[in-house]
Amino acid sequence: MSGNTYKPKLDVSDWQLTKESEYEQILSIISPELHTFVAEHAQLGKKMDQVRAGYSEKAYADALKSIGEELDQHFCYEEEFILPRLGHHILSREAGPIKKLIQEHQVIRNRYAEALELYPQRDEESVRDLFIQKMNLLAYLLKKHIEKEDHYFFPMVSLILNEQEKAEIAALVKRETAASQRV
Ligand SMILES: [Fe+2]
Ligand SMILES: [Fe+2]
Repeated sequence: MSGNTYKPKLDVSDWQLTKESEYEQILSIISPELHTFVAEHAQLGKKMDQVRAGYSEKAYADALKSIGEELDQHFCYEEEFILPRLGHHILSREAGPIKKLIQEHQVIRNRYAEALELYPQRDEESVRDLFIQKMNLLAYLLKKHIEKEDHYFFPMVSLILNEQEKAEIAALVKRETAASQRV
């Protein structure tokens, strides 16, 4: 048996479709000040479901655009508005949720950059399969990241941060969102 015929295949059998009914439950265990983050997760999750459903020029272009916007805004809001406040309560940046969230964001940013690089050549036969593969990996990583944040990170942050810290986060998100809409 040749050693280089093995091609690892991404196992996505644990993929779960984004459901409105589940989001109602999730929102019930997360503070209202943080709900905008969760609403964005639900929107992006549905777009990742479309990527998983199969290749379509429109769905993939749409997904790539939405992921780019998510990385520019949502990821940065989590890193700049939430993590410094969580750092008042969880002191280590070498272990625990702050380190792991930043690490996951970086992994997703790297995979996004790879998919984006292939996008202009997607119609070339030799590139198409690789592009689809990269998009599916990216979609899977985002689904898992969102799942973790919805079920662990945001419920935990809701309990740990005090009311003032949560109000500050909501105000910062509102200010930045208004500023980005003016551009
Ligand atoms: Fe995140
Ligand atoms: Fe998030």
